[in-house]
Amino acid sequence: MAFCSHGVLLVFFLFSLLTGHGIEASHQIYRRLQTTAAAPSPPGHQPYRTGYHFQPPKNWINGAMIYIRVYHLFYQYNPNGMVLGRPVWAHSTSTDVVNWMPQEVAISSSIPSDINGCGSENQQVQNLAVPKNLSDPYLREWVKPAVNPLMAPTAMNKINASSFRDPTTAWLLPDKHWRVVIGNKRDQGHRGMALLYRSKDFIHWAKAKHPLHFAKGTGMWECPDFYPVYVDSIFGVDTSTMGPNIKHVLKASLDDTKHDFYTIGSYDIRKDIYTPDKGSVEGDSSLRYDYGKYYASKTFYDESTRRRILLGWVNESSSTADDMKKRWFGIHATPRTILLDEYGKQLVQWPIKEIEMLREKPIDLSGKLIKQGSSIEVPTITAAQANVEISFRLTKLTSVENIDPAWTNPQLLCSRKEAMVQGGVGPFGLLTLASKGLEEYTAIFFRIFKSPDNYMVLMCSDQIRFSLNPTNDKTTCGTFIDADPIHGELLLRTLIDHSVMESFGAMGKNCITARVYPTLAIDDNAHLYAFNYGTEKVEITRLTGWSMKKAHIN
Ligand SMILES: *[C@@H]1O[C@H](CO)[C@@H](O)[C@H](O)[C@H]1NC(C)=O
Ligand SMILES: *[C@@H]1O[C@H](CO)[C@@H](O)[C@H](O)[C@H]1NC(C)=O
Ligand SMILES: *[C@@H]1O[C@H](CO)[C@@H](O)[C@H](O)[C@H]1NC(C)=O
Repeated sequence: MAFCSHGVLLVFFLFSLLTGHGIEASHQIYRRLQTTAAAPSPPGHQPYRTGYHFQPPKNWINGAMIYIRVYHLFYQYNPNGMVLGRPVWAHSTSTDVVNWMPQEVAISSSIPSDINGCGSENQQVQNLAVPKNLSDPYLREWVKPAVNPLMAPTAMNKINASSFRDPTTAWLLPDKHWRVVIGNKRDQGHRGMALLYRSKDFIHWAKAKHPLHFAKGTGMWECPDFYPVYVDSIFGVDTSTMGPNIKHVLKASLDDTKHDFYTIGSYDIRKDIYTPDKGSVEGDSSLRYDYGKYYASKTFYDESTRRRILLGWVNESSSTADDMKKRWFGIHATPRTILLDEYGKQLVQWPIKEIEMLREKPIDLSGKLIKQGSSIEVPTITAAQANVEISFRLTKLTSVENIDPAWTNPQLLCSRKEAMVQGGVGPFGLLTLASKGLEEYTAIFFRIFKSPDNYMVLMCSDQIRFSLNPTNDKTTCGTFIDADPIHGELLLRTLIDHSVMESFGAMGKNCITARVYPTLAIDDNAHLYAFNYGTEKVEITRLTGWSMKKAHIN
C-alpha cells in the first residue's frame, strides 16, 4: 500500500496472495483455526474478550492508513471458516484510531492470480487493488486492474515461490521511481532478506539485482517494514521523505522465532542499499519492538498529526482447544506512535494519545513509599480494564545485586528471578489481573543489578502464575532497559484489558505485551497492586490509575 500526501494522490493496496495455500501460509495456528472457526462467538459472558483492543472474531494484522481524515484498517479474515479458506481483506474505518466501524469487505479473491486452489503449487504473488471512487472517504469499493499479478516468482528470478510475501508501503525517490520491499529467504532459509522492486508507474515492477538488505542465519522475513525517522524530533516522517536528519528503520518479523526485530541505519538511495548502524545486532537477539507477544506489525505515516503509527498483532497463549471454545484468535495491540530516541540508538513507543479518551475515574497514590517485601492495592479502578502509570525513585542503591557475567539472556534471568524471588533493589512493579489471594497474577516489574562499570535495569513480565489453567503458554518475558536508576525515575505504564497487558518501560524504550487468561482474577475479581519484594524500600513518586471505558469495535 502506498499513500503519497504530496501533490498527486495515490492510494494503492499491494497485497500478497498465495494460490496454493491460504494467505500467510507460515502462520500455522491461524490456518488450523480457519478450518474450525465459522460459528459466531459463543453466547454468554466472555471474560477474555477485550474492551478496547481491536478484535474481530478472527483476524490478522495488515495495512493501515489515513485518507481524507479517515483511518482505514485492512486485515485478513476468513468469513466462511469451515474450510481452509480463501481469506478476504476485511476493512474497518475510524476517525480516532480507537473506535472502529466495519465496512464492506475490501478485497476478496476473484482473479486468476488470487484464486487459491492451483493444485499443489504454493505460489505467492503480489497483486494491486485501487479504490474505485477516490471521493469516497470510506474507500468502500476496490478494484483490481487487469495487470495482476504485478510481481511473481519465476524461473528467471529464482525466487522461492513459497517465501515471497508481505510488501511494505512503497516509497518514491527523487528519480521518480517507486520502491517496495518483499519478505523472502534464500539458501534453504539461512538468509532472511528484503527483496527490492522498482517501478515508474506502480504497475510494471522490476526486481533490483540486490536486495535492500539481508542477514545470514535469520530465516524467513515476514512483514518487512522500512521507513525513515527523524533524528531528534517529536514528529514522524512520510515514507518517501529523504534527506538530512533522517535515519532509516528496517523491521522484519522472524518466522522462525515469531519476533519483530529491527535495526536503525542509513539508506543510500544512490546504491539503493540499507546498512544497519555499526554494532547493530541482527536476528533474534537484536532490538525488538516488543519483548512479549507481538508480531507481524506494520507502520504507517499519519500526515494529519505528523505521527508514524505502529500496529501490531498479538497472538493467543491459550491451547487450541480453548481457542476453539473462544471462537476467536488474535487481537491487535494498541496503536503506538514510534520515534527515534534522543541518542539515536533505539526506537521509543507510546500508546497513541487518543486512547486516553477512554480513561475515567482517576485515582492517585503518588508520594508513597513501598516498604521492603510489601504491596499496596490500587483501589477502586476496574482492574480488568485499566491504565496505570507508576514512577519509582530509588532512594538507596547499597544492596544492589551483582550481575553474574553468565546472565546475558534477560528472558532467562526474568524466569530465574521471578516476581516472588527477593532481590536487593527490586523486584518492584505491578501485580496485574491478580486474584485476592494471589493464586493468579501477572507481574510487571524492574530489578536493578550492578555490573563492574554501571547499573543495569531489568524489566520483566512474569507470567508463570497468570492462570490456574495448566494448558496456557506461560513463558516469562524480559529485557534489559537503557535507563539510569540513579539520577532518573523509572516509569512504567501498563494497559490492561482482560486478557492482554501492554507494558511500556522507561517512557516506551522497552515494551512487553502479555496474553493471559486468569480463571479467578476476572472482571470485578481482578485486583491491581504495586509491590516491592526487594530488601530496600522504593518511593512511588507518582501513581495514577484509570478505569478504561469500552471502545466501539466493529
Ligand atoms: C463517489 O463518492 C462520493 C462521496 O461518497 C459520492 O458522492 C459519489 O456519488 C461517488 N461516485 C460514484 C460514481 O459512486
Ligand atoms: C522454499 O521454501 C520452502 C518453504 O519454506 C522450503 O521448504 C524449501 O526448501 C525452499 N526451497 C529452496 C530451494 O530453498
Ligand atoms: C502463537 O503462540 C503460540 C503459543 O504460545 C506459539 O506456539 C506460536 O508459535 C505463536 N504463533 C505466532 C505466529 O506468533
